[in-house]
Amino acid sequence: MNTATPAVLTVDPQRSVPRHVAIIMDGNGRWAKLRGRPRTAGHREGVKSVRAVVEECVRRGIDTLTLFAFSSENWQRPRAEVNILMELFMTALRGEVKRLNENDVRLRVIGERGAFSEKLQRRIRDAETRTANNVTLNLQVAANYGGRWDIARAARRLAEEVRAGRLDPDAIDEDALARRLSFPDLPEPDLFIRTGGEQRLSNFVLWQSAYAELYFTDILWPDFNEAAFGHALDDFSRRQRRFGHTGEQIETWSAMGAYERTE
Ligand code: FPP
Repeated sequence: MNTATPAVLTVDPQRSVPRHVAIIMDGNGRWAKLRGRPRTAGHREGVKSVRAVVEECVRRGIDTLTLFAFSSENWQRPRAEVNILMELFMTALRGEVKRLNENDVRLRVIGERGAFSEKLQRRIRDAETRTANNVTLNLQVAANYGGRWDIARAARRLAEEVRAGRLDPDAIDEDALARRLSFPDLPEPDLFIRTGGEQRLSNFVLWQSAYAELYFTDILWPDFNEAAFGHALDDFSRRQRRFGHTGEQIETWSAMGAYERTE
């Protein structure tokens, strides 16, 4: 058996706590409908789950949390619902910064923010600046985000650099493209959670989740609390990640402590 440390593996495959968790927060509308309330009541309630999960990430030492708040396709929803979602972001950006700073959380928004109102864009920049020195948790809110948009933008950046004579097409490989995606400085998602019962990726962080462990739960987002998140993390800790290798190789490298220096 080949027991040399694999150059491609920079993540300890037996690490029990994910470094990066990505979540599709689905089920707000159904949560509200079950209670005879407007869909927007579900979104408002969903903000409480966002707080609970953020604080649980801080407690458990998770480095990065990426939340899918608004997809490129969500503009097609009824105007009133889109307006409420924008209002919720505005309120959260203003109201949560103090709490984020108390928890040492750095906020970043990923996605095509040019489509948002000037006021919302200013609020986003302000919240990012005011939390920029925090280091315990990177919180990324994906807004007007799409995984294909992210990949297409990276491809355009490569093409522009080639046109400008700064990049040799022969130098374009997976790494080169990955460095031009939305968060090249952060670890890729280890755990990808979707609440609300559907089992699909819905154009969320597609490239970056190539090796993420997928976890689907029927729990609707407003009901997704610390305990539910804990179950997802427990499930993750029992998975064996192989990254294309055999289980035997992974166990041998782990016994050798082959990954310790990368953590
Ligand atoms: C999906 O549920 C949820 C959304 C499109 C919005 C998520 C937004 C929040 C949780 C609130 C704000 C977030 C932040 C970060 C401040 P759905 O409406 O598709 O539910 P359904 O499938 O039951 O209809």
